[in-house]
Amino acid sequence: MLINLEQLHLSRNNLSGELPEELGNCQVLTILALDSNSFQGTIPSFLSNLNGLEFINLSCNNFSGVIPQELGLLNELQELYLAKNILSGHIPLVIENLTNLYMFDISYNDIEGSVPEKGVFSNLAQATESFATSNLIGAGKYSHVYKGVLLSKGEGSSNQKSNAVAVKVFDLQQLGSSKGFMVECEALRLIRHRNLIRIRTCCSTFDYNGNDFKALVFDYMPNGNLHRWLHPEIDELKSLRPLSLTQRLSIVIDIADALDYLHHNCYPSVIHCDLKPSNILLGEDFSACVGDFGLAKLLPDPVSKSLVESESSIGIRGSIGYVPPEYGDGGPVSTAGDAYSFGVLLLEIFTGKNPTELMFKDGLTLHNFVEMAFPEQVMDIVDPNLIALDVMENISFKKMREFLVSIIEVGLTCSKQWPIDRMSMEDVATQLHRIKDVYLPNINC
Ligand SMILES: *[C@@H]1O[C@H](CO)[C@@H](O)[C@H](O)[C@H]1NC(C)=O
Ligand SMILES: *[C@@H]1O[C@H](CO)[C@@H](O)[C@H](O)[C@H]1NC(C)=O
Ligand SMILES: *[C@@H]1O[C@H](CO)[C@@H](O)[C@H](O)[C@H]1NC(C)=O
Ligand SMILES: *[C@@H]1O[C@H](CO)[C@@H](O)[C@H](O)[C@H]1NC(C)=O
Ligand SMILES: *[C@@H]1O[C@H](CO)[C@@H](O)[C@H](O)[C@H]1NC(C)=O
Repeated sequence: MLINLEQLHLSRNNLSGELPEELGNCQVLTILALDSNSFQGTIPSFLSNLNGLEFINLSCNNFSGVIPQELGLLNELQELYLAKNILSGHIPLVIENLTNLYMFDISYNDIEGSVPEKGVFSNLAQATESFATSNLIGAGKYSHVYKGVLLSKGEGSSNQKSNAVAVKVFDLQQLGSSKGFMVECEALRLIRHRNLIRIRTCCSTFDYNGNDFKALVFDYMPNGNLHRWLHPEIDELKSLRPLSLTQRLSIVIDIADALDYLHHNCYPSVIHCDLKPSNILLGEDFSACVGDFGLAKLLPDPVSKSLVESESSIGIRGSIGYVPPEYGDGGPVSTAGDAYSFGVLLLEIFTGKNPTELMFKDGLTLHNFVEMAFPEQVMDIVDPNLIALDVMENISFKKMREFLVSIIEVGLTCSKQWPIDRMSMEDVATQLHRIKDVYLPNINC
């Protein structure tokens, strides 16, 4: 019954007894949080069946006995908290083989041996060929991103898969980069959605010279970011086919779904604050994931003081062209701010026009430009590549026009000047799915 359960959060519930064997059937479980209860007995070895587990917190219970060897089979495990139990014995050696494990807490038990010095840095260095320039796939103000291949070396891993990853290394010389690392780590650690970049590891350790080293490890996205597809460099013009109408629609739906989730289904809510094409990553099948949470803000602010930032220390949150007007005037960060950036992004995706283009000056914005043509001349302002391509996809011109009018209307409403006039991302997601069902019922997205 619980076979599809992905997360089990039962912390602080006064639950007691031994862990039921049925738990071993939750094959797709990624998060197991049973801390601060009164569970007792041994930590069951059947947990090793749940080989997708990434996070385990069994702290503050009455678990006794030894840490089972079998935990060493949990190749995806990133965080393991066993503090404040009455465990004894040694730390099993196999724990050292968990390449993704970066947090391991066994304090307040009666366990001998020290927490293994994880070779996280050396794993990442090996994966990226010592952070070779040839593996550099992106660079920002605070970080460099490298492509790498991680080798899982956990004993008995039947799926001896090698994993393509993107390793984002923070440049700790840059003021604010350390904070960016923490924010991104905190924002992404426990959230899961198919349209959000999946963080595998937040890694805070030391390099070979003993210097601080902070990096985030993500799944590698083979098609790179959306910016390069919308505005290809001259040398990539040939290799990057313009995105089709259906691809563009499914990309905006993916982004809207991700934001709806962040705004309305997470607690605390996550405000992304930096939506733009270069932060949208595309998978093999062009499904889109929202990435780069370095400017994200959690609302209400969590207790952890380190994340509470004064706005002045960071300047305006966002990127020119996408940042909502009220942030420039010192207005508060809000979900409506993300909706604005989303609106601009949507207009960019369907017009092919970058909001920072030179033509947008002296009060002319992408929003105004589109609004002036809307709805009669909408076909004059959409990306010409789109029309050329999709007439071939046998969508009639009239139907395509209707479709584009309804889509662009969503973009215009989201990018309105006043926050109160914009749509919520929940309504946006619903509306876009509806448009898809009407005009392109046969595609899956
Ligand atoms: C916790 O459970 C025990 C019995 O299992 C009960 O006596 C106690 O009142 C419970 N505590 C709370 C706070 O519910
Ligand atoms: C694990 O559980 C303990 C006890 O409830 C809690 O204090 C701690 O914050 C939890 N750790 C994480 C990372 O959630
Ligand atoms: C743990 O077990 C001890 C005795 O073995 C008992 O005194 C204590 O109350 C238990 N703690 C919890 C949190 O159940
Ligand atoms: C850890 O991995 C190495 C390399 O795959 C293997 O030789 C070794 O036996 C493993 N150690 C344990 C304790 O499983
Ligand atoms: C489009 O129309 C042409 C000619 O009518 C037909 O051969 C082709 O299979 C159609 N393509 C699609 C994707 O429906």
